[in-house]
Amino acid sequence: MGQANAQGSGGDGRAAPVDMPQAGVTVAIEGVSRRFRTGFLALTEVDLTIGAGELVAVVGPSGCGKSTLLKIIAGLLTPTDGVVDFGGDRPETGYVFQDAHLLPWRNAIRNVELFLEVDGVRKQERRERARQALQLVGLADFEGSYPAELSGGMKMRVSLARTFATDPQLMLFDEPFAALDEITRNRLNNDLIRLQRDRGVTGVFVTHSIGEAVFLADRVAVMSPAPGRIVGIVDVPFGGDRSAALRTSAEFAAVARDVSEIMAAYEVAEGQEIMAAKE
Ligand SMILES: Nc1ncnc2c1ncn2[C@@H]1O[C@H](COP(=O)(O)OP(=O)(O)OP(=O)(O)O)[C@@H](O)[C@H]1O
Ligand SMILES: [Mg+2]
Repeated sequence: MGQANAQGSGGDGRAAPVDMPQAGVTVAIEGVSRRFRTGFLALTEVDLTIGAGELVAVVGPSGCGKSTLLKIIAGLLTPTDGVVDFGGDRPETGYVFQDAHLLPWRNAIRNVELFLEVDGVRKQERRERARQALQLVGLADFEGSYPAELSGGMKMRVSLARTFATDPQLMLFDEPFAALDEITRNRLNNDLIRLQRDRGVTGVFVTHSIGEAVFLADRVAVMSPAPGRIVGIVDVPFGGDRSAALRTSAEFAAVARDVSEIMAAYEVAEGQEIMAAKE
């Protein structure tokens, strides 16, 4: 599945319609560690609090535990130590993976309806919400198209629409645009930021791209090689101004450089992590 509802609140079919933004939740990750049954320590002592409506990007080398951390936030994996506290019940959560994971035998609108169906939302409301979500991602004219008839970027848009149609309070993104060309990725970044900010959804966005992290996020958290922990957090001081011109500005380059410098202070050599002098 390209997206999973960690918990659905719409089981009674009366979930809020897609055009009614829900307030995001606060996510407090406290002392989270995860050791796998193999004995491998993937995460150690991760502390990170994400404010309501905030988008935090997580960057770090391959294998440092980024996906593990997202799965723990989603409740799909339990931490060996520590907790993830939402200040209440587990929120309605959308999870978007690198692959759009659309069902090939369903057209675009029926793919968007999928999780609403699982949540038991009635047919008419499901259709309305799916249609609105497709409109939001610019695919109103393609609701009858099947995945095989859509480009990679369009498939990712359907995947995003499917997630936003469930009205999540928390969105978890695991490198959703990594396989796309830069122009398409930039367009989807623009779409995503509009959807996320307009709706006040709290988000965690894992990416290998420092530029993508800085463009999207309010803060960028940098993880060390395994066992992953957060070794630096960079504030992104651009507020809601995420215009295309920002990408080429000196201010943007300066923030990206701060992130790169933290990453460069940690490197992997011959399978062993070495931590450079900078802490
Ligand atoms: N179920 C598992 N059992 C044992 N080890 C695991 C398991 N899942 C992940 N790992 C290990 O934990 C480490 C972190 O994996 P994870 O998938 O979280 O990394 P990642 O940062 O998302 O990497 P990438 O950027 O390549 O996606 C890796 O070394 C991986 O091999
Ligand atoms: Mg991963």
